Amino acid sequence: MAKSDTAEAAAMLGQARRVVIFTGAGMSAESGVPTFRDALTGLWQRYDAHALATPEAFRADPALVWGWYEWRRCAVRRAQPHEGHLAVAAIEARAPHAVVITQNVDDLHERAGSAAPVHLHGSLFAPRCSACAQPVPVPDGAAEEPDEGRRTPPPRCAYCSASVRPGVVWFGEALPQPALETAAEEAASCDLLLTVGTSGLVYPAAEIPQVAARLGATVIQINPRPTPLDAVADVNLRGPAAQVLPALVQAAWGDADQPPQSG
Ligand code: APR
Repeated sequence: MAKSDTAEAAAMLGQARRVVIFTGAGMSAESGVPTFRDALTGLWQRYDAHALATPEAFRADPALVWGWYEWRRCAVRRAQPHEGHLAVAAIEARAPHAVVITQNVDDLHERAGSAAPVHLHGSLFAPRCSACAQPVPVPDGAAEEPDEGRRTPPPRCAYCSASVRPGVVWFGEALPQPALETAAEEAASCDLLLTVGTSGLVYPAAEIPQVAARLGATVIQINPRPTPLDAVADVNLRGPAAQVLPALVQAAWGDADQPPQSG
């Protein structure tokens, strides 16, 4: 990554009034949470993540799919936010208005101090009844899952006794309307959008940076690999989120560990 690119991006970020930070699976990768494009291991080895994350897969084999989400939730609980997550929270603290819009179903942004990330694809921590949609609390404390994973039948809803399902958006399902509306409004009104760790391939989420770009916002992309968003990004910072984000915040505002100056 050229230093001049970071400096250029930092100058844009430092001047922006309304900032959207749009994140995908690559944001969580350095915390040890695998991306959807990584090969699965253990019990899940024979499957592709895209084949497990569907309503059809859950209907066909609820214990397989529920077990996979239990295993993922356990992995997320063991994971810690990295320097890039902290840098995102630092941007929120410094920019006049900033919001995180994430496709991730983990809670690493929250745990790094981001105020209220918009979860476009739901959350691992919000299961609900598959029939009556009653929310079901996740028990506190990590249920330890074996490293290789295991099949686990989903619990039953206390109200209607249908299967409880993960509170995530599966392929073929609609995104939660309030989250999508907030994301679309923020994208349409921001002057800078920072896209981090997303392949930009999965719609409608991938529309968010496209909308911002179309309406004239500056787009900065952080990703070690090229993506379809290269074409709309004003600056492409090629590298991993945990390195590039702290460097960007440092270049925009100085020491990211210091609280912002008031006044
Ligand atoms: N830092 C930044 N980016 C990274 C890193 C890293 N350390 N490691 C990987 N990446 C990039 C990859 O190059 C890739 O472009 O993160 C991206 C991950 O892409 P996907 O796995 O497709 O994840 P995402 O874009 O979030 O997918 C969108 O589709 O897979 C489903 O529902 C799932 O929310 C997800 C959605």
